[in-house]
Amino acid sequence: MTKKKKKAADIGTILHKIVDQSALRPWADYMAGVDPWKRLEITADMLVMGWAATDAVRYFFSAADPRSAKVHDFEHEHGLIVFNLEGGRAVVEKFLKGPMPSGYGDGGYVSAIATKVRHKGTGKYLLSAAERVISEKFARIYLFVSESNHAAQRFYKSAGYEEIARAHDCLKAGNTELLLTKALSG
Ligand SMILES: CC(C)(COP(=O)(O)OP(=O)(O)OC[C@H]1O[C@@H](n2cnc3c(N)ncnc32)[C@H](O)[C@@H]1OP(=O)(O)O)[C@@H](O)C(=O)NCCC(=O)NCCS
Repeated sequence: MTKKKKKAADIGTILHKIVDQSALRPWADYMAGVDPWKRLEITADMLVMGWAATDAVRYFFSAADPRSAKVHDFEHEHGLIVFNLEGGRAVVEKFLKGPMPSGYGDGGYVSAIATKVRHKGTGKYLLSAAERVISEKFARIYLFVSESNHAAQRFYKSAGYEEIARAHDCLKAGNTELLLTKALSG
């Protein structure tokens, strides 16, 4: 008998905004140990520091309840998404080392998404939750994905994202990041 895949909507009831930043530490530790962060030599401290920077409003969502200890358990289907509702354009231009491609304006910016278990619909759920929140303010969402991260590129393509620019020697010498975007209906 084939195991029936759990629908993304099934985890909707356990999506929470993370208020207590200490809940992010286990995620940073986990992410620093897996690609793309491991390959890019981005440490847990660097992740936490980046997320805590004050130049942008940041929302953290996890498919675990941060008020319970469960966020530390990494039970299956848990995932984290970090995104900005301010300063998205500035972040993109910093990575591009130049202006946003012509015809594209300000928008929300996803700085990190990670799931503990893959291919269970968690990533899709978290990304669409971020899109929903961002669409209340912006008509567009942006994110970067490493050129070598083919699995994540397929994930974003299936969610309707398209590449509009490339950032070379980004985050690490020789690393190329693709700037992806999607138009949101508010
Ligand atoms: C990328 C990531 C967030 C995707 O989350 P996920 O929960 O595994 O993905 P989902 O199960 O929600 O997949 C949604 C859709 O994306 C596509 N997809 C996801 N992973 C894919 C892969 N490896 N290959 C092909 N398509 C893929 C599929 O179309 C999938 O739909 P389907 O399962 O109905 O066919 C997750 O795999 C992850 O944490 N990867 C490591 C960290 C990372 O690379 N983050 C992105 C940095 S930019």
